[in-house]
Amino acid sequence: MALVPDDVPRLTKIGVSVRVEVGAGFQANFPDDAYSSAGANIVPASQLAQTTAIAVVARPPSESEIQALPEASILIGFLDPLRNRELLAQLANHRVTSFALESIPRITRAQSMDALSSMSTIAGYRAVLLAAEASKRMFPMLITAAGTQPPCRVLVLGAGVAGLQALATAKRLGAMTFGFDTRPEVREQVQSVGATFVEMPPELQVEGTEGGYARDVGEEFLRREQEAIGEHLATVDAIITTALIPGKPAPILISEEMIQRMKPGAVIVDLAAEQGGNCELTKAGETVVAHGVTIVGPRNLPAQAATQASQMLSRNVSSFVSLLVQEGNLHLDFDDEIIQGACVTHDGQILK
Ligand code: NAI
Repeated sequence: MALVPDDVPRLTKIGVSVRVEVGAGFQANFPDDAYSSAGANIVPASQLAQTTAIAVVARPPSESEIQALPEASILIGFLDPLRNRELLAQLANHRVTSFALESIPRITRAQSMDALSSMSTIAGYRAVLLAAEASKRMFPMLITAAGTQPPCRVLVLGAGVAGLQALATAKRLGAMTFGFDTRPEVREQVQSVGATFVEMPPELQVEGTEGGYARDVGEEFLRREQEAIGEHLATVDAIITTALIPGKPAPILISEEMIQRMKPGAVIVDLAAEQGGNCELTKAGETVVAHGVTIVGPRNLPAQAATQASQMLSRNVSSFVSLLVQEGNLHLDFDDEIIQGACVTHDGQILK
């Protein structure tokens, strides 16, 4: 849910009247009466057409629903603007002003609106649980009368928000943890969650990243990176991959040939599955077993922790909405870096 009952008063206090589609929060454990008690009106979907602004999670309205929106209304949500060009054209044609949560600039003032980080935190946590579930080994070291079991070794490739959360979660489960990223600045962050930073050749560290994001590194770089990662594969029980380049297909870090060198029973959880995958054999939304290795390609992991994902997203969305409202009225200040950065369609134009 893009808004939870606890955050309804944050909006009503600034003069926004909140309507919630009937039953919309049910599956995330937020029943209609909790919204009513918090001051929202419960309305059927057909009445959404009478709203100034609509906040969604990721499912944008269908074309017919877009047609039903009042001209110049506002849409806020994960709109995936770089891949969803057709939707953007429909929104622009209908003169909807739309804001993509993933396009909010990652500046200090926008931290409370950083929905991408909120969802990555959950995805990183859930990925480790999926890996533990798919593995035929237990994660912690166990000393028992029947012998000593060493801890699992978990390698995380891509140590951004999701990767760091995965490292921290795997550590809490008792695993030995290892992390790698092409951005050298993450070394201390990896170490701060109790993991070892995997030392790779110096040419695999890319300085000068854009806004904290990694850059597209090219095929030759990836070939050398695969070679370097390959040296560590035979020793690990689980790999969680999270490497993403904004607006580009995910880089392939693990080829089929590399999988053949992994331990039988090892697990890969590929968080980049929906962007094409970091592993050559990943299938988004499926679990495949190849050469004795289980490869999990989850879709929409935050939905697996829907209650807290909604709470976090709701805080991000309500902070963003607060930025659009002045004295109870809609006020779009396009000189504001956050509003300008997040806006993907306005006044009939596609802006991203
Ligand atoms: P992301 O989801 O776009 O990428 C995940 C990770 O994959 C990144 O750490 C990236 O460096 C890594 N990666 C990309 N290509 C790779 C390759 N070939 N090999 C290995 N790793 C590769 O990034 P995310 O997690 O959304 O954010 C990245 C960084 O942005 C954060 O770690 C942080 O430094 C910064 N950030 C800043 C914020 C702020 O200032 N408000 C808020 C959130 C993040």
